[in-house]
Amino acid sequence: MAAKVVLAFSGGLDTLIAIHWLRTVRNLRVVTFSAHLGQPDGMAPLGERAIALGASAAHVGDLRDTFLQEYAFRALRADAVYEGGYLLSSALTRPLIASELVRIAEEEGCEFVAHGCRGVGNDQIRFENCMRALAPDLTVLAPLRELKLQSTKDDVEYARTVGIPLTGIRREVLSIEQNLWGASIRLDPFLDPWGEAGRETHVMTTPPEEAPDKPAHVEIEFKKGIPVALDRKELPPIKLVDTLNKIAGRHAIGRLEMIENRISGVKSRELYEAPGAAALYAAHAALEEITLDKVSARVREILSREYARMVYDGLWFTPLRESVDSFFDRLQRDVNGTVRLKLYRGGMQISGRRGPRTLYRPDLLAHCGEEVFELAALPGGLPTPAPPPVTTEAADNPDSATADSSSALAPPTPPAPAPAHPAPAARTAAHGRRDRRHGE
Ligand code: ARG
Repeated sequence: MAAKVVLAFSGGLDTLIAIHWLRTVRNLRVVTFSAHLGQPDGMAPLGERAIALGASAAHVGDLRDTFLQEYAFRALRADAVYEGGYLLSSALTRPLIASELVRIAEEEGCEFVAHGCRGVGNDQIRFENCMRALAPDLTVLAPLRELKLQSTKDDVEYARTVGIPLTGIRREVLSIEQNLWGASIRLDPFLDPWGEAGRETHVMTTPPEEAPDKPAHVEIEFKKGIPVALDRKELPPIKLVDTLNKIAGRHAIGRLEMIENRISGVKSRELYEAPGAAALYAAHAALEEITLDKVSARVREILSREYARMVYDGLWFTPLRESVDSFFDRLQRDVNGTVRLKLYRGGMQISGRRGPRTLYRPDLLAHCGEEVFELAALPGGLPTPAPPPVTTEAADNPDSATADSSSALAPPTPPAPAPAHPAPAARTAAHGRRDRRHGE
């Protein structure tokens, strides 16, 4: 009995070639796996297509919920943006697909696992990084790399030579990959960085000039940095993201043309669309502005960048990514609240934010009194963590405010009679008395 291989199967010509090669050149029994991640064209024909090409079994899995909860929302919570623009919609799916392949390989008793990546580009590196971490015993096969097929043109030629039927295959000049979190569009005909994408190139957003002339307002609620409700209605992840994609897409939000550095350093021009994700990122960052203290926000920024690089580089299954996620687990505990966004012709504005525990203290801004001025004029500004949020209890009892401010994050506090950051009531009570602790 021939040995078995499980192949990541998207239904594209590259993966059809992979089935053919694995069967005829390697004499393997091919089991395919296709992931439903919110592609617009549905998944139904994929299994049939694989079987028609000689696969012995075809698995199709709806991974949308896992994708959002375990991957996309983690990246959102970490504010992970690659090179200042890409929200990682494609890169985030790779570790999930890899882990499903490993699961199916075990279930089906496969010795091999295969992908349709070429010998260039990010995906072969991501895939192989994930495989090494998850299942080092599985042998990875890369048919297109073996065949040295470098482009869609090479694929078509090869398919013709070996007799793979091309009917029903979109031989698009553009490479488009779309899921719930966004679309990645490779502009092959626009290799010239001066070339402009046509109107028909976009798949998730209306052109700004055709977007409604009336803004849309959306309210997004977060719990622990994760979106839970839209316009005051709690929604499950898929519904929330899908609805927001439609609203924000209609208003031309989340379009981006960029030239990014691939893992190898080669520069690649991509067009991205991520209407819902862009709105969520903007709202989440706005909420962090009122819920994270200054130093946490600064460290967060460094780790966000690293998180994005790890996702991009295919380093999901690493102790480092897990450790950084633990950091965000803790940090986002207080990122609760609602942000109101105004969407209009490709632009977003924060029009309101509120939360049960906000560090934003208008009272510190409103007073122009000597005392407040003195605190703010200290070298380096106000010591961190930021003044504790005002609660009824803290306002009534200055001691409880002091206790709150000496959290685990607070710098060592020298013994001092006066609270470092008196709550408003305490400061009022102390009015006229100079807080010498920081002044001398
Ligand atoms: N450059 C992005 C990445 O490496 C997107 C890759 C897929 N792009 C595409 N047009 N199909 O994550």
